[in-house]
Amino acid sequence: NEGTQSIFESKSMKTAANLISRNATCWCGSGKKYKKCHLLIDQKEVSPSAEVPKPKRKDRNIIIKTEEQIDGIRKSCQMTKDLLDMVEERIGVGVTTNEIDEWVHLETLARGAVPAPLNYGRGQGRQRMPFPKSICTSLNEVICHGIPNSQELRNGDILNVDVTCNFHGYFGDASRMFVIGEVPDRTRELVEVTRECLNLGIEQVRPNNKLGDIGHAIQEHAENHGFSVVRDFAGHGVGIEFHEAPQILHYGEPGIGEALRENMIFTIEPMINIGDYACKVLGDGWTAVTTDGTLSAQWEHTMLVTSSGVEVLTA
Ligand code: MF3
Ligand code: CO
Ligand code: CO
Repeated sequence: NEGTQSIFESKSMKTAANLISRNATCWCGSGKKYKKCHLLIDQKEVSPSAEVPKPKRKDRNIIIKTEEQIDGIRKSCQMTKDLLDMVEERIGVGVTTNEIDEWVHLETLARGAVPAPLNYGRGQGRQRMPFPKSICTSLNEVICHGIPNSQELRNGDILNVDVTCNFHGYFGDASRMFVIGEVPDRTRELVEVTRECLNLGIEQVRPNNKLGDIGHAIQEHAENHGFSVVRDFAGHGVGIEFHEAPQILHYGEPGIGEALRENMIFTIEPMINIGDYACKVLGDGWTAVTTDGTLSAQWEHTMLVTSSGVEVLTA
């Protein structure tokens, strides 16, 4: 399934083979024509016997991490943080999202890790192309899962950069907003309030609090400012896999839902819109945008539930 977990099953998704024209450049980055590269592979049905049946998301169990796993995940999360710091130092007007992708890709490999988004979704039923880049870059009205491209950042843009490292098999996932130059007050307010939503969600993390406490704190703050909370994507358990149970909804009722337990690790990653929360996914199978074209912001951290509260692993 997919990142920032889509709540929808993707049965109706087009396959990459339907999506990409035969003479277009292949999604894999080889530079070859699609028909000379991945077309046949994408068309080929994975034989049912070759595919290990995966439990449905709702049947998967929450993984309570061991001390050894926590150490590994903590390191991966610190690398994710360092990579976002690097982006923060270099980003600005005139930079392309492809360039940001390349910085993160090369630095991740140089540190002995693998960028988890690259080829994410490969072999999962071939319902769409695997994610073709090493980070997600979600510009302006893009809610999440934007694909880096050659367009230059301009004064007035807002951009989310989402980085996930796989370091020795342990995952760390975080994202930040970047404001490029001058933006209107309401745009800056969106970015700041979304960050506050993440922090208010984090404040609810401690043993025996409920998932609904997190969602409620986020929803109340966003809606008090006249913004809306995206419903179609959620935070998620993380660490041993990129996306684990449970889903962390960014809206909800206090006291409702699964109880938090010590040594759970998950993300909170609210996506907040200036306009309506309705969302649609573009023909590339990934890019999620607001249907009304209004701006969307997102901030994300990975965190550990401790005996007394929370440790933000990507801080
Ligand atoms: N990093 C995203 C998340 O927060 C997931 C991205 S999946 C990708 O869960 F394939 F789009 F990269
Ligand atoms: Co995430
Ligand atoms: Co992420």
